[in-house]
Amino acid sequence: PVTGISQVTCTAPVNIAVIKYWGKRDEQLVLPINPSLSVTLSQDQLCARTTVAASADFKRDRVWLNGQEQSVDAPRLQKCLGEIRRLARKRKHKDERAGDLLGSCVHVCSENNFPTAAGLASSAAGYACLVQSLAKLFHIDGDVSHIARQGSGSACRSMYGGFVEWTMGRLEDGADSVAKQVAPAEHWPELRVLVAVVNAGKKAVGSTEGMQTTVKTSALVKYRAEHVVPSRQEDMRQAILERDFQTFGEITMKDSNQFHATCLDTYPPIFYLNETSKHIIHLVHRYNRHHGKIKAAYTFDAGPNAVLYLLQDDVPEVLALLRHFFPPSSTNNSEREFVQGLPDANR
Ligand code: PMV
Repeated sequence: PVTGISQVTCTAPVNIAVIKYWGKRDEQLVLPINPSLSVTLSQDQLCARTTVAASADFKRDRVWLNGQEQSVDAPRLQKCLGEIRRLARKRKHKDERAGDLLGSCVHVCSENNFPTAAGLASSAAGYACLVQSLAKLFHIDGDVSHIARQGSGSACRSMYGGFVEWTMGRLEDGADSVAKQVAPAEHWPELRVLVAVVNAGKKAVGSTEGMQTTVKTSALVKYRAEHVVPSRQEDMRQAILERDFQTFGEITMKDSNQFHATCLDTYPPIFYLNETSKHIIHLVHRYNRHHGKIKAAYTFDAGPNAVLYLLQDDVPEVLALLRHFFPPSSTNNSEREFVQGLPDANR
């Protein structure tokens, strides 16, 4: 073991899926029942910042999230730490620095600059950031998205910037269920993301539990995985490569709607959208109908917060529209604010 402290700090942004991941075929390895595709936001917007430190003086592994110490025994966390150490052991023959810290305990300190567990993909940014910083600390290069995936499925997509797909993979050990960049953020510089925080509270049903119940009870989710997503994924990839906002927007909205339909088809049903979410959905359709084309596309994850994809020129109008229909004074206790995010250009 080395003396003193070795330390690495990384940031990782959230990603917002346009083809949703919902359902695992292997709980332990976090292997999905369908492929998914997302856009990674920019580093300076919604992101996690993690510092990992290793020292021979540390007595045990410890973790802090937003300033509060957490149990280090959380299975997902153990999985990521264990996999990184396993890789480091394997790599130390090629690069002896990879073995330097194997005898040391690590301290992890992570912060989100946005509400945690509110359906804003906080775990995606958090685990991507954790795995990225551990990989750097242990001198592991190359893709480690298969490790981030085992922290939180969608986290594997936050390992890359721009437009990213998560492939299902075929191997039993999940080594090929990884994230791949479809196109860098610079490919479509006019694309913008608007996040409308409808409710910053914790979500009612966590994604792990939610998708388990859906896979167990919903016939629709099987139909979706087998007959809908595969061709949608192809069409979406094509739309991105052609910068075709009409197709991009239509698939994004349809896929969000189908994901929430599988939640309703779950027994007992899961409701992530609230009345404000539904008003936003109606508003977007009215706005698009008024213009005779898709100018804005909504998508919702495991919570009521809306994410709108749109093109740069339409940002002022859509923001004005949202502010008109959802003025800050009408929010009572649930805060609503709008954050404008850009796909990241630097990763
Ligand atoms: O990665 P998890 O377990 O937090 O699941 C994320 C699921 C959705 O956000 C609803 C969809 C997605 O693909 O990000």
